[in-house]
Amino acid sequence: MNTEKDGQKEELRVIVADPLLPEGFDILREASGITVEDHTQDNPDELTRALVGAAGLIVRSRTKVDADLMQAGSSLQVIGRAGVGVDNIDIDEATRRGIVVMNAPAANTYSTVELAFALLLGSARRVPEADASMRAGQWKRKELRGTQLAGKTMGVVGVGRVGGEMADRAQAFGMQVLAHDPYVTEERRNELALDMKPLEELLRVANIVTLHVPLTDENRGLIGRNEIASMPAGAILINAARGGLVDEEALAEALVSGHLAAAGIDVFEMEPLPDDSPLREAPNLVMTPHIGASTFEAQHEVSRQIAVFIRDALLLNDYQTALNRNP
Ligand code: MLT
Repeated sequence: MNTEKDGQKEELRVIVADPLLPEGFDILREASGITVEDHTQDNPDELTRALVGAAGLIVRSRTKVDADLMQAGSSLQVIGRAGVGVDNIDIDEATRRGIVVMNAPAANTYSTVELAFALLLGSARRVPEADASMRAGQWKRKELRGTQLAGKTMGVVGVGRVGGEMADRAQAFGMQVLAHDPYVTEERRNELALDMKPLEELLRVANIVTLHVPLTDENRGLIGRNEIASMPAGAILINAARGGLVDEEALAEALVSGHLAAAGIDVFEMEPLPDDSPLREAPNLVMTPHIGASTFEAQHEVSRQIAVFIRDALLLNDYQTALNRNP
């Protein structure tokens, strides 16, 4: 909402703290009553200063939006996350301060599910290892035996947008799909028509387990040592959702022991992944540096969507995509 000073409407300042494509900046620049500022190169002190008097803040996952940052931005009306995961934003604190938090929930779906499937195919068929051996002048045709997906059972943990699309693709590959999601609505359950199971049962029978849940205080360490041990020998674990869901030390051990045939991981408890992480040495593991949403299409869409949502929230009081409904 615009405020007035000396009878003049004051421009609403929107601070962009993490990278956003030019189309996002353009949408905000063209909105009358909004001034958009690029603070993507700021250090934390500069960002804190920039937030004084700002009405909007746009971040991706790099900027941690905690109570201190919100205190600096005490005029903030809306915080936009250019992406899906909001674990870097203290939503409870925002709600207490009356700040609306919004994300771009649907913009990344296809890109993320395609990366999860790439990790699955790459790890099941040992594609990166095969490629590396070819580049090293080898011909390891006998050694590079993988796992066929058709006829296997995939366990999808979390059947939101990405999990639902993952289940569809698994079926197209001839896999049977089981799913687990304690928060699924009756409507979504009927729409997906999947065989829903308790997590323990899914882990006991699925040959492939793929995670598609946000990271919360309740599910941190969801797949720990015991859960991995309960999976069938030769199973494959895929995580393109959030770091912190999987115990990385236990995963590395299960790959070394051969209990898990393979894993594909895009997200890590600490990002960038520390040099001494046991995952760096683990066999049959395909790792990517949190690139689920790193496609031209997804980046265009998150930048465009979040700019539109922030513009409409500030100028039209349209909070349709708010995550905290009653701030
Ligand atoms: C998301 O939550 O949108 C994706 O993980 C990508 C990102 O963190 O930007």
